[in-house]
Amino acid sequence: MKEQRIKLGVNIDHIATLRQARRDIDPDPVAAAQVARQAGADLIVCHLRRDRRHIQDEDLQKLCRLKGETHVELSDDPKVIAAVLKARPTSVCLVPERPGEVSTEGGLDVVRNFKSLQKTVARLKKSGLEVSLFLAPEAPNVRAAHNMGADVVEFDTSDYTAAKTKPAQKAELERLELATYMAWEMGMTVHSGHGLDYHNVTPVARVPHMSALNIGYSIVARAVFVGLKSAVSEMRRLVD
Ligand code: PXP
Repeated sequence: MKEQRIKLGVNIDHIATLRQARRDIDPDPVAAAQVARQAGADLIVCHLRRDRRHIQDEDLQKLCRLKGETHVELSDDPKVIAAVLKARPTSVCLVPERPGEVSTEGGLDVVRNFKSLQKTVARLKKSGLEVSLFLAPEAPNVRAAHNMGADVVEFDTSDYTAAKTKPAQKAELERLELATYMAWEMGMTVHSGHGLDYHNVTPVARVPHMSALNIGYSIVARAVFVGLKSAVSEMRRLVD
């Protein structure tokens, strides 16, 4: 059976980070989303953080009104959930969020926080959203995600992207492959992301049953030199 083309989710948070540096109107993340889509992004991804350090509620509402899929990362926080439900994206990914972190640090502790997360997953699903959980690629996490009714798991690739030697990278890739196979066998869709760039993305895109990769920082950083359209198209080619 031929696997479907892998989806590319382009995270545009750092377009808004740049705008917020001056609290001005440029660069506009909504315009960036349109360029990214034209260049081959299947999903537009953003994270509505509690501190609103980059994406604002108004950005999210505009992004969700555009044609195409909008995927929102959010913490298990009632006010953020209310803002996301108001905007109505296509899908969401629950992530841990620690004040002061520079980016999401690791996956959710789905085993310890099973009951509270299960409630949130049910609520989001009831509102018609596809629900993903950001997880370290480990069997107990996959089992817990399945038991709490998640549609999708997004595996944290930061251990793979931080691996310094070939054997360490290989070991992390195998960990990802195993967890992906397990989640797929249980009927969940598998996404991955965090720290993926133009040098390390291809082996992850080749993992059997991987459905989508969510990539932000490296694309926005490359866009500074080559423009967003080229940065997204180059990543698209590596993922395909
Ligand atoms: N997936 C999740 C759940 C994230 O929190 C992030 C960072 O916002 C990404 C993917 C993208 O990571 P990066 O910006 O390193 O590509």
